[in-house]
Amino acid sequence: MMDHSALMETVRIKRIAEKVRKLSGALYRIGVFRPFRNENHLAENVGPNVREWKYRAELAMRILADVKLGSGQRVADYGCGRQTLRTLLPPDWTYTPFDYCERSNDTRIVDFNTTFPSGDFDVIFILGVLEYLNRPTELLAHALRHARFLVFSYNFLGEHERRERQGWISCVDVKEIDNTIVSCGEIVGRSHIGKNQWVYLCRGDLSQPGRTA
Ligand SMILES: C[S@@+](CC[C@H](N)C(=O)[O-])C[C@H]1O[C@@H](n2cnc3c(N)ncnc32)[C@H](O)[C@@H]1O
Repeated sequence: MMDHSALMETVRIKRIAEKVRKLSGALYRIGVFRPFRNENHLAENVGPNVREWKYRAELAMRILADVKLGSGQRVADYGCGRQTLRTLLPPDWTYTPFDYCERSNDTRIVDFNTTFPSGDFDVIFILGVLEYLNRPTELLAHALRHARFLVFSYNFLGEHERRERQGWISCVDVKEIDNTIVSCGEIVGRSHIGKNQWVYLCRGDLSQPGRTA
């Protein structure tokens, strides 16, 4: 038989354990315990979560590192959002953000459904944006014509209801994406982010000999 004080101590410890369990559950839900770099874990959590967008931008930079670019590269960020990418670029690279909202003083405001961004760049990034467009492959083709390299992501989730819930408009398949790239550029590599989302690295038209960004 447990004496009264031992019983009270057990109850107290159980209460503390329950509080810790609830607190860690809450921290997990708001993303505090979610690892950024664990791809398998991230696979269950691709969604409108800034931490995952940061992970995606980091992955995009890692993929780009494969082509070993030098200093002074000119970067465009189509659909820049919170400009996470900006913080990951080497300090001597220039950054031009495009979005339909003014995300910073230097944001170039463009609605990709009606107008294409202007300018030639060494690298164009389109991360987490094509899902929101009426004709995503047209923006892709435009970017390929105006960049030496293009890094973009796409979520191929096939269920229309779930796409609608995310606010996604487009639904293109791997073939359509591949055909678009092959017609104006070349796929250098692609990397799985998780579930249905991929990041592609492509060579654009301006990487052809004699063409300059
Ligand atoms: C999911 S956020 C991604 C932001 C950022 N690229 C990132 O990965 O963190 C999508 C971004 O695309 C922009 N966007 C969506 N539709 C657009 C359109 N038609 N024209 C221009 N920007 C658009 C939104 O304003 C938003 O900043």
